[in-house]
Amino acid sequence: MGKPDRIFFILVCFGLFLAHVSVASGIEGTHPYDAFERPQACASCHIDIARQHEQAMMSQSYTHIWDEIEYFELAVPHARKDPKVAEVEAGCNGCHAPLALMAGDVPPPRPSENSRANEGVSCDLCHTMTGFEGDTPFNFNWIVDPGKTKRGPREGLESPHHVTVMSEYHKTAEFCGACHNEKNPWNLFVKSTHLEWKEGPHGKAGIVCQSCHMPPAAGRSARMGSSLPDVRQHLFHGAHDPGKLAGVIEVRIHPETREAEPGDTIKLTAVCVNAKAGHKVPTGSVEDRALWLHVTATDAEGTVYHLPVDRKGFEGEEYTVASSSALGYQDIGEIKEIPDFKGLKRDGEIPDGDRIFRMAYLDPKGRITISQWYTASFGYDYRLAPLEARAETFTWNLPDEMPAGPVVVTAEIWYTRLVSSVAQFLKVPEEEWEPIRINSHATTFTILD
Ligand code: HEC
Ligand code: HEC
Ligand code: HEC
Ligand code: HEC
Ligand code: HEC
Repeated sequence: MGKPDRIFFILVCFGLFLAHVSVASGIEGTHPYDAFERPQACASCHIDIARQHEQAMMSQSYTHIWDEIEYFELAVPHARKDPKVAEVEAGCNGCHAPLALMAGDVPPPRPSENSRANEGVSCDLCHTMTGFEGDTPFNFNWIVDPGKTKRGPREGLESPHHVTVMSEYHKTAEFCGACHNEKNPWNLFVKSTHLEWKEGPHGKAGIVCQSCHMPPAAGRSARMGSSLPDVRQHLFHGAHDPGKLAGVIEVRIHPETREAEPGDTIKLTAVCVNAKAGHKVPTGSVEDRALWLHVTATDAEGTVYHLPVDRKGFEGEEYTVASSSALGYQDIGEIKEIPDFKGLKRDGEIPDGDRIFRMAYLDPKGRITISQWYTASFGYDYRLAPLEARAETFTWNLPDEMPAGPVVVTAEIWYTRLVSSVAQFLKVPEEEWEPIRINSHATTFTILD
């Protein structure tokens, strides 16, 4: 390298260094733990809200077992080995253990040590936020002003414990977006729930996150507060709640003809609709989740046939059709320094030929990964956008010896929060990844004599 080149190189490195540091340094070391009140301090008056929040995932954002495994077994060792991802040792905590990052307590003590990191996304954090920096909310760029003043949706309230101030910010989707959009060291939005919402029909209609995740009900927000027609419920349930997932994707299936003969070819079409969510499904932790369409047919004698989906031929389609021979997640072997690690089954136990609604996260070597911080590119985005419907076809060559009588064809939608092969390898408890059936529909046609 010549001298000017060298200076340029040093400047570029310095720039990269600054860009790196800026992600986590915004709030690192800005407030001691003591600046924030504990959730228990709020619970004595805001009883129902406190009980609701306790059973929402955001109060467990640091203690939740799968988070602990991913942070301590993958992210931290990786950050210490690869300078490109060094920022995540601190950065993960910006959303999962924000009090710890602000206190400069990085990495925070393990959840079993019961430190204040365990409070996760707490009452006092959310209710002392005043806005966010810049024009796009992402990577915990919220601004917080801890103290006596608590910010909420209403004007002119009196509390014996604190000053209350009305905040428009708390009524916006951007309030949620500051943690529900995440940009990684490759400058990719690896979490974009708020951005998906913004470009979808709910965002355009002003139906904010709070409308669905904090719906209003009549009651009191504090024990001694006034009776109100519309107290915001702190439910925040999502993919950890089977009821919230139930029916999120609707499915209807029909045959091209109602009668066929053995040996004929019949085409079936299943239409899948994202009917309930205000963002894509899956959203958020897209790298972990899988959503798939499973179609079977049962003939008059009870024989069951599994029908593989017809390929559409788009680029990157291979990631959207389950294959038991495909491997992935080789980066886990590199992070854990396992010699000759060939990878894990890309699609876990998803039956061969089922359509998977996903967007693959690809590491810098182009292999599918669950490490969102180590994602350098994406596969085709085959997730379902809000209120979007998508048709999938199944072309079936009926066996020559098929018995006469009715054939029942069933389309099922299945969901898992974490691909089973990765979950089993990392010893994540089964309740975190057990596949659940979230919808189904059946149709019939008849085999003629
Ligand atoms: C001693 C009881 C008490 C404690 C403790 C308490 N609050 Fe309150 N808080 C109230 C009362 C009373 C109101 C007014 C409710 C009303 O009039 O409907 C209120 C109102 C609020 C509001 C405004 C609600 C709105 O509709 O705008 C927020 C936000 C809030 N509290 C947050 C907190 C947080 C966070 C904590 C813990 C750090 C906390 N409170 C602790 C009694 C309490
Ligand atoms: C029209 C109602 C609606 C709106 C608006 C909405 N959501 Fe959801 N959300 C849902 C439903 C239904 C689910 C369950 C499906 C799922 O988990 O993918 C869900 C799931 C989630 C999940 C869990 C996803 C996962 O895989 O763990 C998160 C996080 C979430 N929403 C955040 C948000 C945020 C942030 C906004 C605003 C930017 C928002 N939601 C707007 C209905 C909504
Ligand atoms: C993830 C951030 C978040 C957390 C955590 C959180 N809140 Fe809230 N809270 C909100 C938002 C946002 C609103 C206002 C929603 C709206 O009006 O659109 C709200 C509303 C309230 C209100 C006013 C309810 C009403 O409609 O009158 C009170 C009181 C309150 N929160 C107290 C608490 C307490 C106590 C806790 C902890 C047990 C808590 N919050 C945890 C975000 C949060
Ligand atoms: C300070 C950061 C932060 C803010 C602000 C925040 N969230 Fe979250 N949220 C998280 C984290 C971290 C998780 C993941 C929890 C875990 O580890 O499973 C989460 C999880 C969720 C889930 C998933 C629950 C499930 O069952 O999987 C929902 C729904 C959700 N948040 C809704 C909201 C909504 C709505 C808002 C705005 C009112 C909001 N969040 C604001 C950090 C935040
Ligand atoms: C910008 C905020 C943000 C950052 C930074 C962040 N997360 Fe998250 N994380 C979230 C939110 C929000 C969710 C919930 C997403 C959802 O459920 O859709 C989540 C979900 C998760 C989950 C899945 C939990 C589940 O519901 O199954 C794991 C594991 C996790 N994060 C680990 C990490 C690790 C490790 C890092 C650092 C490499 C990290 N996160 C960085 C916001 C963040």
